[in-house]
Amino acid sequence: MGSLIKLKVMWYNTKATELLGIKYPILQGPFGGNLSTIALVATVSNAGGLGGYGAYTLNAPEIFEVDKQIKAATNKPYNINLWVSDHDHAADGVTDEQYEQTKQLFKPYFNELSIPFPDKPAPFKPRFENQVQVILDVKPKVFSFMFGVPSADVLEQCRRLGIVTVGAATTLDEAIFLDNAGVDMIIASGFEAGGHRPSFLASAETSTTGTFALIQLIKEKVKTPIIAAGGIANGNGVAAALALGASAAQIGTAFLATDESNALPIHREMLFSDAAKYTTLSRAFTGRLGRGLTSRVAKDIAGKETQVLPFPLQTTFMSALRKAGIEQQKWDMILFWGGQIAPILKHTKAKELMESIIQETNVYYNALK
Ligand SMILES: Cc1cc2nc3c(=O)[nH]c(=O)nc-3n(C[C@H](O)[C@H](O)[C@H](O)COP(=O)(O)O)c2cc1C
Repeated sequence: MGSLIKLKVMWYNTKATELLGIKYPILQGPFGGNLSTIALVATVSNAGGLGGYGAYTLNAPEIFEVDKQIKAATNKPYNINLWVSDHDHAADGVTDEQYEQTKQLFKPYFNELSIPFPDKPAPFKPRFENQVQVILDVKPKVFSFMFGVPSADVLEQCRRLGIVTVGAATTLDEAIFLDNAGVDMIIASGFEAGGHRPSFLASAETSTTGTFALIQLIKEKVKTPIIAAGGIANGNGVAAALALGASAAQIGTAFLATDESNALPIHREMLFSDAAKYTTLSRAFTGRLGRGLTSRVAKDIAGKETQVLPFPLQTTFMSALRKAGIEQQKWDMILFWGGQIAPILKHTKAKELMESIIQETNVYYNALK
């Protein structure tokens, strides 16, 4: 009886662990753009957290294959993540004038690397509808998404199939919107976070609430369990998020820096270097606002971002520059994704990172007894 009561008050028994079917309320943030790996997802899920795979750049058969591989690597719950809005409407077509303007803006860097401009990117064909069909077919325990909310029909199908739905909010308005749509959990995605800012009601530039404020705002108005994301990388961060009313923490940058992620070795090295002290929100590299380690191009383009192409055509345009920058080791041409918390990172192995976060949170809660 005594041990039962003790179990009930353990910090890691939260609404999130119950809903997600996991032991610890720690989620590995999914990474889009080919930075997720099966190994990272399986390591985190096998350690009692929730591994997440960012699949928005994959086509339907590729997502099917990834899911098969995850299922072979873990029998624990895991999350597959998509972007509901996977292109800006302007990406349906770019005029020659627009393309010329973007070329002029980036000309110094293409010249410096001695590479030609790519052809004008073709209009983007949306993929979300096909991608989400795979989610419904393969039924991961958790389906998380950003940049909007799937249709009521998709959410209803997830409910019927037992797939837990998790949407990302950068403002209280977005959290209320997700809540009204009936999602199972809401990510409070704070300004500190690495990667894209997933705003979908107002512009990302005006949706800049920090994680601690956002958790509390959402907690006050919304009953749906909250997952805190942004600026959390250790047990103290997890404990603080739980203390403010979150049911779980989602950790991105700290997992991105581990050997199991698909980040380039130089990217991981930079996350552990002094360069990680400085981060910038920029649209210059993809067309949407995302946080990465400050680079020369990010600094130069600040304030001129209306001249970049819409998402994801800007990603296509910049891919040649990125490739050449990597080949010629001109790191200042690239935005290496990372959040504000990077300077405190210590672990290069995902399993050790998980164990250390759990241990630190245990120590924190034991000290309160
Ligand atoms: C490189 C990178 C890519 C990301 N891609 C996605 C994504 O595709 N979908 C998503 O929902 N979140 C994405 N995120 C957000 C993370 O899942 C997580 O919420 C965030 O990194 C937490 O903040 P932190 O970086 O301060 O730990 C990405 C983050 C990074 C750093």
